[in-house]
Amino acid sequence: MKEFDAFRLDPVNRCLWRGDERVTLGPKAFDVLRYLVQHADRLVTHQEILEAVWPDTHVNPEVVKKYVLEIRKVLGDRSNRPTFIETFPRRGYQFVAPVREASTDTSSIEAARVVTMVGRDASHARLERCLDLSLKSQRQIIFVTGEPGVGKTTLVDAFLRRAAARASLRIARGQCVEGFGGKESYYPILEALGQLLRGTERNPVVPALVRYAPTWLVQFPSLVKADAREALHRETIGTTRERMVREICEALERIAVDDPVVLVLEDLHWVDVSTLDVVSALARRRAPAKIVLLCTYRPADVVVAENPLKVLKQDLLLHDLCVEIPLERLRESDVADYLSTEFPGADLPSGLAGLIHRHSGGNALFMTAIVRDMVDKGVVAEDGGRWTLTRRLANVAPEVPASLREMLDAQFTRLTTSEQGILSHASVAGDRFSVWAVTSEPDLTSDEIENVCERLGEREQFLRSAGFHELSNGTVSAHYEFRHALYREAVYRRLSDVARSRVHRLVGGRLKALCSPGRQELAAEIALHFEKGLAYDDAITSLVLAAENAAARFAYRDSIQVLRHALTLVPHAAVEHRAELEAQLFERIGGAQYWLGEMVECARAYEAEAACGARSGLPSVRVNALSFLIPFGLIDPDRGIAAAEEAVALSAGLGDPRLHARTELLAAGSRLLYDTWRGDDWQTCESARRTLEALSPAGVPDYHRMIYAHLQMLQGHYEEALTSLEAGIPTANEPTSLMVHMFALSGTTVALLHSGRFGELLRIIRAGRAMAEKNGNDPWIFAFREAWLRCVVLDFDGARRLCETVTDTATTALARQPQARQPRTIARLARGYAELERGHYDEASRYFDEILDPAVTPKFFLHWYWRMSAQLGLSNVWLAAGSLGRARSDADRFLASALSTAEPNLHALGWDVQARVSMAEKDWRGAEANIERGLAVLERFHIPTVAWRVHATRSELYRREKNHDAAEAQRAQAERVVLTLAGSLESDEPLRRSFLSADPVRRIVRPRPPGRSARERR
Ligand SMILES: Nc1ncnc2c1ncn2[C@@H]1O[C@H](COP(=O)(O)OP(=O)(O)O)[C@@H](O)[C@H]1O
Ligand SMILES: [Mg+2]
Repeated sequence: MKEFDAFRLDPVNRCLWRGDERVTLGPKAFDVLRYLVQHADRLVTHQEILEAVWPDTHVNPEVVKKYVLEIRKVLGDRSNRPTFIETFPRRGYQFVAPVREASTDTSSIEAARVVTMVGRDASHARLERCLDLSLKSQRQIIFVTGEPGVGKTTLVDAFLRRAAARASLRIARGQCVEGFGGKESYYPILEALGQLLRGTERNPVVPALVRYAPTWLVQFPSLVKADAREALHRETIGTTRERMVREICEALERIAVDDPVVLVLEDLHWVDVSTLDVVSALARRRAPAKIVLLCTYRPADVVVAENPLKVLKQDLLLHDLCVEIPLERLRESDVADYLSTEFPGADLPSGLAGLIHRHSGGNALFMTAIVRDMVDKGVVAEDGGRWTLTRRLANVAPEVPASLREMLDAQFTRLTTSEQGILSHASVAGDRFSVWAVTSEPDLTSDEIENVCERLGEREQFLRSAGFHELSNGTVSAHYEFRHALYREAVYRRLSDVARSRVHRLVGGRLKALCSPGRQELAAEIALHFEKGLAYDDAITSLVLAAENAAARFAYRDSIQVLRHALTLVPHAAVEHRAELEAQLFERIGGAQYWLGEMVECARAYEAEAACGARSGLPSVRVNALSFLIPFGLIDPDRGIAAAEEAVALSAGLGDPRLHARTELLAAGSRLLYDTWRGDDWQTCESARRTLEALSPAGVPDYHRMIYAHLQMLQGHYEEALTSLEAGIPTANEPTSLMVHMFALSGTTVALLHSGRFGELLRIIRAGRAMAEKNGNDPWIFAFREAWLRCVVLDFDGARRLCETVTDTATTALARQPQARQPRTIARLARGYAELERGHYDEASRYFDEILDPAVTPKFFLHWYWRMSAQLGLSNVWLAAGSLGRARSDADRFLASALSTAEPNLHALGWDVQARVSMAEKDWRGAEANIERGLAVLERFHIPTVAWRVHATRSELYRREKNHDAAEAQRAQAERVVLTLAGSLESDEPLRRSFLSADPVRRIVRPRPPGRSARERR
């Protein structure tokens, strides 16, 4: 630690101390000062400072000037005869005061204590004990509770000062803000984290976030190098709050490995629920950690029985996971102590303490306010170096206002008109405010407002300085805060309703002007002002931005809550905007619900949007909403299709050919995916695609392109489909649509499966499942695809087990969701084949029948594909059972439906089973004709997962015809395909072994000399 004059630079907490007082200095100003002090022996150029303090950003050199001004102000330096910083015009600065290495002796700090604290010895001692335990790696969760003004913050401050002197700590504070709860997720945590992140050199917080908390790292984009952003973006898509919470805990635990971390969260009665999740997790985790989480709140503000903070604290107390330190009001003896500390050696009557105690009721804030008021009014005055009471004690009482509020009112009325005006506006701006945000009537410049605030601060009236901060537009502005929230309230309450809302509107407008597009970090605050300012249209717009902020923090539930709140404001918005605002809100709610996997709620939101479009005569709104109802396909395909068809009909009359083509593609596409395959519908999609490509260079929108790619895939065009699907994998520079991303993953995995690229498929599946588990969301799409793959490689038991873990766990959200129909169907198919292998034909046929029965298996995504597979299963059962009649009729039915599609795998399988039934019927000629048609399909399409079966059947037929050479050639062909499929899997992949050892495969693969793998042979 460096010392100069009465100051100490504390690099750990990045703050400046004057004696024992923490001097408020903005973070950048601190960095500038530290740099100057570190190089006190020489002149430091502007450029050097810019490079040291803003290494990665371009900053206007004027800013350095601003900060040096701020530092000078704080140090009390004069520019004409500087004692600290000397300016060399156009060259730079030099720190000229003598600099010493600070001693570790803290006794001077104790002595120089500025804020007097009385009557808190026991509470303070408890805090110290907690700190001791935390130094032994026992995490400490502490709630300091009490009424406003009782002295919570004062106690915490005193403790921190003492603790910082005792051990090398990392201290970070986060303040909850009234009205932000639920609108600004994790607000205080982010604020505190921001403090921990300050400091450029060897700060372990940044690497800890990189390593353990990428979801939090993305909240600080300036820390992420441009080339790493895309990877980070992908890695955090669809994160849930469980992951966010876990990561911040892990990161804090890492950061606290050497120096303990003290995290202070102030005024938790205004907290958001996401932050409470972090508090709860930090308290419940078991790992040893040098963490102190110190929270303050007012119990009276959380009395409602089900208040989550109250519930949380009670639960933690019950399990001995936290400590509560309730602060009582001060006693009369404490007041006496206070008086003798404030007025040392004074000659005050003994009854004064009792009088002040009686009036203040022991409330510390009221007590100090009464004392200050007495000094202001000269009731207590210094006379010849001694403080005395200037009138008789009996005459003092009538002058003391009965309540703090009255006292503050009286103080307020003694201020000048301009002071009153500025304070009133400031009280609207908030507990802590930027001079820039404060408006005034009549109009004063920011400098004039700042002077007034500064004067009030110096006189310790209502305000105190809160340093300088850089605003998002790059300007630096002085901040002030009310001495206590009750001071702000007292001023705010004096305003009339009309005046209040007018000023809120003005402040909202000022803040909004600060936010350049794309910088919306103030959205929640702005929304609050506009709402209180009765400017509802603006409030709704800002709430939408606040909801986006929440979503960017993966707090989708919070995002929905904000949007729902915005919905309640819609009836107050301007009539002509209402419908559009409402529609927009529902659409965003729908999107957030989709992210959460709440398909029913998602569809409900889009339906509400559609209803709003219809009600208000906005057909394009309705068309848009209906187009989003594709998720309905997951719940009730017929309703999804009906919605898409209505969109087509509506858009036909709107004179917007692009919109119309889009809806046509969507409607025909959903019929193909969710109902059945029809050639006409494919033609419609194809011509819609051509129209879209002709109408605009952007061509087919991503969402529609994903659907189109699925249709390409269903016709065996895997390479083309994979190329289209790549567009749906998000990169960092575009907003991510989960729906597009989901569709892209869905299509890619199926295309890889059908083209026999099992290894690649498994890699995507495993990475996807790992990522989903890390993010805390449901890996259903990957589980489905793996189950499908297992069926294809004949691991029916594995497929069934996998599906059952997905559908039968009551805890998975999926089990309740309609998309569970797909794994249930795959499970039935797998069971059917497993029973078939065991020769249990009746059981096997029952499973296949269930798939075919719409009462047991309602429609779902590509249900027709699975029903046809069940049909095939049935004919295989009867063939094996020797019931040729049934085998024949099921095979015929299967072929007919297969040929009604454009799916080459189904075609080939259709001919293959025909050939096998014909062989069983000893109809050699028929068998020959059928299998040749199957082989013809293989000429046109690369469908390896089915090809080997066709070759095997052909080989079998040749064998029966005693054409042994041709039989062997076909067997070898089948074997090559099988080995290529197996070879696409890693050599140690268990699926590879199980595939090669499955009966139908063993029949065509020749045993090899031991010691050489299939891959080596090729
Ligand atoms: N123990 C104390 N001794 C003396 N003054 C105190 C004490 N506690 C609080 N105060 C005074 O009361 C004011 C309000 O206290 P504060 O800690 O901000 O209350 P809270 O955080 O509980 O609302 C402080 O600014 C300080 O001047
Ligand atoms: Mg407080």
